[in-house]
Amino acid sequence: MRNISLSLAALLLVLALCVGCIDRTDWASKGPTDENYSAQLMVLGAEVYRDSCAACHGSDGSGSFGPGLVGKGHKYSYEEQRRLVERGRRSMPGFGAGLTEDEISAVLAHIRVGFFATSNN
Ligand code: HEC
Repeated sequence: MRNISLSLAALLLVLALCVGCIDRTDWASKGPTDENYSAQLMVLGAEVYRDSCAACHGSDGSGSFGPGLVGKGHKYSYEEQRRLVERGRRSMPGFGAGLTEDEISAVLAHIRVGFFATSNN
């Protein structure tokens, strides 16, 4: 009897923890971050995004194999998000070696602000 209660308690604990592992926040509704980027950087960012990221994150950033990125500038600081793109995480490949510093700056401008621009570059 005692073993059954213990298993039940363990099961409930796992379920409770799992609620936290699903991101239910509607990040897209939070809009762009208040950073300002030059038009030139935004154009480059859209290009880099299309070439290197869209296949996994969707051309509009709404996600496919990888999670949606729209509005995630409110989930991650600029530095955190940059490190993630440079180093990767689990099935997310790192781009620190494949892209130049400028291309990484540009793609960050795109995912933090560019997704919300009225004309798509
Ligand atoms: C091969 C597929 C793939 C490509 C290409 C890819 N990503 Fe990802 N990305 C992923 C996956 C899968 C995750 C989830 C990683 C995890 O579970 O920790 C992710 C996570 C992320 C996250 C964190 C999202 C969150 O809410 O936690 C950011 C930001 C991101 N990617 C940006 C980019 C950018 C920018 C590019 C292009 C330079 C890119 N990714 C290219 C698959 C990819």
